[in-house]
Amino acid sequence: MTRNKPLRWAALMAGATAALISASATAQSTKLKVGLMLPYTGTFAALGVAIENGFRLHLDEQGGKLGGREIEFVKVDDESDPAKATDNVNKLIKRDNVDVIVGTVHSGVAMAMARAAKDSGTLLIVPNAGAGAVTGPMCAPNIFRSSFTNWQPGYATGEAVAKRGHKKVATITWKYAAGDEMVAGFKEAFEKSGGQVVKELNLPFPNVEFQALLTDIAATKPDAVFAFFAGGGAVKFVKDYAAAGLKKNIPLYGTGFLTDGTLEAQGADADGLLTALHYGDALGTPRDNAFRLAYAKTYKLQPDVYAVQGYDAAQMLGIGLAAVKGDVSKKKEFAAALEKAKIDSPRGPFTISKSHNPVQDMYLRQVSGKENKVIGVASKSLADPGRGCRM
Ligand code: BEZ
Repeated sequence: MTRNKPLRWAALMAGATAALISASATAQSTKLKVGLMLPYTGTFAALGVAIENGFRLHLDEQGGKLGGREIEFVKVDDESDPAKATDNVNKLIKRDNVDVIVGTVHSGVAMAMARAAKDSGTLLIVPNAGAGAVTGPMCAPNIFRSSFTNWQPGYATGEAVAKRGHKKVATITWKYAAGDEMVAGFKEAFEKSGGQVVKELNLPFPNVEFQALLTDIAATKPDAVFAFFAGGGAVKFVKDYAAAGLKKNIPLYGTGFLTDGTLEAQGADADGLLTALHYGDALGTPRDNAFRLAYAKTYKLQPDVYAVQGYDAAQMLGIGLAAVKGDVSKKKEFAAALEKAKIDSPRGPFTISKSHNPVQDMYLRQVSGKENKVIGVASKSLADPGRGCRM
């Protein structure tokens, strides 16, 4: 009996190893479940659709597989509503058992998603929402972003507006994390260069009753205005600003969301506006030209920054999955692969910072016809400071 013990032990171990290998092989031969939590209704609906389009375009280019695994989607319309965010994300994690979550657009919703991802260990790739907390105090080895922090385009626009010689600026935005943080980034750069923010105006998200605030701007007479709005709200703001007669007297600047994906609807009212963002039209690189052609062919639409961020979320997932041979439970190896990757984005190559946010060029763009023409680089290789991130 005693003499046979080592033999039985070895047989048991071999069995267990075989079971583990076969479980892992089964996991990799099943489809990878990706939860898409995006806005499909409301003022950011078009942004959610563009992100999904971009993600699917990269997946199609890879023959429908990332890291050797076929993808199955589970979709949730988050309505850009932070009050519903925790329930929505928990449905994906606990009911649908997704392997990865890709979302979202709205910073307030993204913070609830990051909390749930951090608690559950579910892999999260944020394809837009710029909330600083997600890659700041809430940063985690399983949380990544393919987009920006709100600070980045705010800071780049602040530098650009200061360089144009403006001294006194009024700011206007929705009162929530994205608006507050873009204004803070703008102010940091603008005031560092000797400028002064003389008035900070805001209204609740997603309100678009701008009239009283525009009257306030006219009375304040700043040298220029800095604005953050996006989607449907940006269309209405740019049109109302021009209709109020302000455009010809007080130059309007913004983070590029003010005019991205919105130019068809804004028409001539957007002409000439200067913004800063990590993407723009007419970049003219072979990489971007190929992306734009493929996107236009597939969707009969021109891509925008949101489409690029969705495309790059899929690229990032593919890079991580390739490194772990499709086994998403290998979180350390997945993260290590992305931390050393150079992502070949249509926006230009970018790397991922220690806090898992893109380090990227911010372009200066000017609206000309239906394009946000890139006219220069506002901030080269701009990295979010990742304040509060401990990993
Ligand atoms: C945000 O909420 O973080 C956001 C929404 C739309 C465009 C950019 C940022």
